[in-house]
Amino acid sequence: MTRCFAMCKPGVLNRRLVGQVITRLESKGLKLVALKLMNISPELAAKHYAEHAGKSFYNDLVSYITSAPVVAMVWQLDNEDCVQLVRKVVGATKPSEALPGTIRGDFCSHTNHNIIHASDSDESAEREINLFFKPEEIIDWKDESAIWY
Ligand code: PPS
Repeated sequence: MTRCFAMCKPGVLNRRLVGQVITRLESKGLKLVALKLMNISPELAAKHYAEHAGKSFYNDLVSYITSAPVVAMVWQLDNEDCVQLVRKVVGATKPSEALPGTIRGDFCSHTNHNIIHASDSDESAEREINLFFKPEEIIDWKDESAIWY
């Protein structure tokens, strides 16, 4: 079993796109095991984006992510690489490189208003899941339909 942290970033609620983002990931056969609508504090934003501290876009990244509510999620997959699959559905970071059919390719036009974040490795996924969710908030429900995906 592998997991990936993903987050609908600010603006996605205003644009009424939460359902469409979740549908893309669910349609691929990914299993949603945690979901939370929340505001991100500057402290949590700094921890989440610690690896980008000092980069030219860091202040914009933190002010954007703390500007409005986000939807934090944990996706799970059995016997496959969840992070790689989520990132394929999400698409490339730069809107100009994200292919049509991906979430970013279809819904973003500016890198600084990227509508979704996804972990980039299993290590990042574990760290980010632990930052945003308590163990009891993750529900590994029995998936009777997994054999069909
Ligand atoms: S890097 O330098 O390659 O590690 O950066 P990258 O993976 O491309 O992007 C990391 C996150 O920073 C966001 N980003 C930006 N935000 C605001 N302004 C600018 N110019 C900018 N460039 C990149 C990018 O969307 C990534 O955010 P997440 O939340 O991880 O998708």
